[in-house]
Amino acid sequence: MKRILFVCLGNICRSPTAEGVMRQLSREGNIDELHIDSAGTGNWHIGSSPDRRAMLAARRHGIDISPLKARQVTRADLEHFDLVIAMDRNNRHDLLQMADHHQRHKVRLLLDYSPTYREQDVPDPYYGGEHGFDIALDMIEDACRHLLKTLAGQ
Ligand code: 4NP
Repeated sequence: MKRILFVCLGNICRSPTAEGVMRQLSREGNIDELHIDSAGTGNWHIGSSPDRRAMLAARRHGIDISPLKARQVTRADLEHFDLVIAMDRNNRHDLLQMADHHQRHKVRLLLDYSPTYREQDVPDPYYGGEHGFDIALDMIEDACRHLLKTLAGQ
């Protein structure tokens, strides 16, 4: 059982999208040995449902993220999860600040899994329009497909 945590700032846009996409891809691939969750580095939205625009973008891809509730990442998460995957370099920086030395290898950047978008950030769609949510979702999906392949090869 591999435990994967996706992390963004608010846990209402990008990381719940990644959680939903990864769940769907693992279901499609009949891979059930994954535990998938998401969290935010910030505390503003604890207990909130995903942003309405994120829910709609996910639904356009046949993914329901409406039951998810935002929570804040904890030090215990860095111990519990095998991979703690940041949506952007700010999130990665914050996670590395929280991590003990022996946990640092678990902290990754999502788009490093994507040959197309390597070393890039998933752009924060929160302050933009609907289209930003579709762009973020496409980038997340591309990286998650490659992440799943990486995990399957291990
Ligand atoms: P997320 O987007 O990190 O992808 O969930 C954001 C959500 C809320 C805020 C910023 C980014 N905010 O400042 O409240």
